[in-house]
Amino acid sequence: MKIGVPAEIKNNENRVGLTPAGAFELVNYGHEVFVQEEAGVGSGFSDEDYRDAGAVLLPTIEAVYALAEMIVKVKEPTPYEYPLIKKGQVVFTYFHFASSEALTRAMIASKAVCIAYETVSDEDGFLPLLTPMSEVAGRMAIQQGAKYLEKPIKGRGVLLGGVPGVPPGKVLVLGAGVVGVQAAKMAAGLGAHVTILDINMKRLRYVNDIMPNHVVTEFSSVFNIKRHIKNHDLIIGAVLIPGAKAPNLITRDMLKEMRPGTVLVDVAVDQGGCFETTRPTTHEDPTFIIDDIVHYCVANMPGAVPYTSTLALTNVTLPYVLKLANLGWEAACEKYPDLGRGLNIVKGEVVIDEIKKAFESALV
Ligand SMILES: NC(=O)c1ccc[n+]([C@@H]2O[C@H](COP(=O)([O-])OP(=O)(O)OC[C@H]3O[C@@H](n4cnc5c(N)ncnc54)[C@H](O)[C@@H]3O)[C@@H](O)[C@H]2O)c1
Repeated sequence: MKIGVPAEIKNNENRVGLTPAGAFELVNYGHEVFVQEEAGVGSGFSDEDYRDAGAVLLPTIEAVYALAEMIVKVKEPTPYEYPLIKKGQVVFTYFHFASSEALTRAMIASKAVCIAYETVSDEDGFLPLLTPMSEVAGRMAIQQGAKYLEKPIKGRGVLLGGVPGVPPGKVLVLGAGVVGVQAAKMAAGLGAHVTILDINMKRLRYVNDIMPNHVVTEFSSVFNIKRHIKNHDLIIGAVLIPGAKAPNLITRDMLKEMRPGTVLVDVAVDQGGCFETTRPTTHEDPTFIIDDIVHYCVANMPGAVPYTSTLALTNVTLPYVLKLANLGWEAACEKYPDLGRGLNIVKGEVVIDEIKKAFESALV
């Protein structure tokens, strides 16, 4: 199969859909890999690295789309790419269709086969291609939060780890899922005092078992959240209710209960956020302040650490890329139901309910 890897052209996106190691693997199976020049530079891979792995470098994104039978990338195609996508071409990437009617319409019109990373799932609903990005975002939430607690950038001026003779900072994590556990782990590693809340007792039991004693678990309730926000320095929003908007666990009037300079990191911003005052921000301008409370709400946090994120993502996508390339999309999706659940739009037809529900009759 001819596999194309375009450079990501979305603002501040430095990840790439395939590493030189992945290209090497595909070429070994007898496939042809076409990579756009400089597509890997943001993640630390030179054109030479891809050439050495057996890939062919192409000068333009148009050339990559024109030659490829399957496109492997990271973010959803941008409007510039819509007309480049061909009938019958397989596009394997994050799509998040429900958040863009324009993208959905463009992919229906293209008659391409759109397989979305975010809906590839096993029978228990585990999402193998989303988990690594949650791991990155959870760990990064503490790194960012610690930075924005510094006084010159309007934080409280607290060092999370404290020093001998001075108590550590306090971190409150809302949600003990993938993001929450990774955040708690990083905060605990810095020596901070950590409180982690969830409504799922199974998760709290797990966290209680694996974390050190200075990570305290508690059931998530409005009462407990109101109590904790008064004396925690950094608050991480990491809740998810699958398929729904995140609940507003911290309302605007609750900001007044916090100490000035408290930092809120809303990782759940991509699902609408779990603080009422959340609005999406970018890596160029990541924070805003309301009532002296610093808000960090970047919707694509992993994009800031592409060296790590590209490897974390391609570790889990490559096995599926190989299946698609070796068997063809139809046989691969039939043989591997988890991959089959990634099919979103097939040759002009929407095949999953979530997209139909999102736009109701608009697509009919
Ligand atoms: N901003 C980014 O760059 C970025 C990157 C990756 C993930 N995310 C987002 O982070 C969020 C969390 O992802 P995840 O992988 O950890 O999800 P997850 O499903 O693993 O965990 C979510 C947890 O929230 C808990 N929860 C639900 N309602 C709650 C409540 N009222 N109080 C406390 N806990 C509650 C659930 O029980 C679950 O344990 C998602 O919205 C995801 O899309 C954002």
